[in-house]
Amino acid sequence: MEISEENESGFVDIHTHLVPGVDDGAQSLEDSLRLLRRALETGTRLIAVTPHVYPGVQPDGDIEKLLQARDQWIEWAGRECPGIRIVGGAEIHCTHALQDALALFGRRLTLNGGDYFLLEFPFDMLFPGLDELVFMLQRDGWIPVIAHPERNAVIQRNPETLARMVQGGVLAQVNSGSLEGRFGEASRQSAIRLLRTNLVHAVASDAHWPEERPADLSGVAVVLDESNLTESDLLLRRNPEHILMNRGIERLPEKTSSMNGNPGWFSRLIRHFQTD
Ligand SMILES: [Fe+2]
Repeated sequence: MEISEENESGFVDIHTHLVPGVDDGAQSLEDSLRLLRRALETGTRLIAVTPHVYPGVQPDGDIEKLLQARDQWIEWAGRECPGIRIVGGAEIHCTHALQDALALFGRRLTLNGGDYFLLEFPFDMLFPGLDELVFMLQRDGWIPVIAHPERNAVIQRNPETLARMVQGGVLAQVNSGSLEGRFGEASRQSAIRLLRTNLVHAVASDAHWPEERPADLSGVAVVLDESNLTESDLLLRRNPEHILMNRGIERLPEKTSSMNGNPGWFSRLIRHFQTD
């Protein structure tokens, strides 16, 4: 996909729920268009639509129908709202059938048909064996991008769990709403801590509804620029574009020594990898 020169400075949003009637995001064509127009008006030039997918919970036939509806909506919305590029993706819930779904649907589930895909964990727990799972996913050629890790209660308490996965090759995407305080103080503080330790590779809107959760990255760009924690251009433009164009991203060295939790254990683990 070509990206036009005049739009190069716009935001790139890798996580949204704009396709109507397929998940808990937009529920009508009208709302989906309102969400899309707001994205365009607030400076987004490239956007991925990523409906929730629950492998093994939804029958495969339902996932097939969802992907068809997504692709039809992309065609329709592209005509209705020229000026913003729309690509497909999905936010895949971490279930026992995740690898089966990737084997069956392949790049139709990934971000713009590349190697990267959005992986969602439950909010209140992490499954045992996650390190092995993300290793096997990468062995199969996929690169998980963990959606809003700052909203997961385990990662809030122990950011090292995310650090370990990031050092194993996965990426992390924080929600704009977390940094803007829309999901409570625990998510906001967690997002800041992950940013400070360079464990965040992209910020996205996770847009659902026109008023409460819009596809608008302009506010978080200001928050990031004023925070001096990181470079907004890296997290809202360059890395999201690398992800959607299936290129390598720009990684900053993780500052693991400034983490809360159990730094002694974590430092020992890192030293173990460094000396291997
Ligand atoms: Fe989402």
